[in-house]
Amino acid sequence: MKKNIFISCDHGGFYLKEQIIQYLLKKSFKIIDLGTKTPSSVDYPDYSEVLVNEIKNNLNYLGILLCGTGIGMSIAANRYAHIRAALCTDEDMAKLSRQHNDANVLVLGGRTTSLNSAKKIIDAFITTEFEKGRHIQRLKKIS
Ligand code: RB5
Repeated sequence: MKKNIFISCDHGGFYLKEQIIQYLLKKSFKIIDLGTKTPSSVDYPDYSEVLVNEIKNNLNYLGILLCGTGIGMSIAANRYAHIRAALCTDEDMAKLSRQHNDANVLVLGGRTTSLNSAKKIIDAFITTEFEKGRHIQRLKKIS
């Protein structure tokens, strides 16, 4: 299980990010908060970029990105070749994003996902391993 996680958000994901950090700290995860650190309005591409750059230097780390819907963060993060960002709204999507897509960034909507749901999605994401096998050739085609 990977235990080091970068997390970043815009104002739309700020409150859920703060709660997620508390949740993951209780589980003894090393979680590195890359901002934003206040609920004031910011631009989500600035906060996806900082996480994407950190993962480039720490390729075995996972990331969590949050904005209002998760859509902007997904679009921005997936422009980088080393990022496989998955916007997940339930546990099954989170599990499959790891098993089939080797997703290294989980994206959540701060205005669309409850804390309870986010906890289940995160648990599934961080405890599931990539299945490899037939999925490797598919990932090679998009890397
Ligand atoms: C900010 O209002 C909102 O547009 C942003 O958080 C995100 O949902 C964009 O995709």
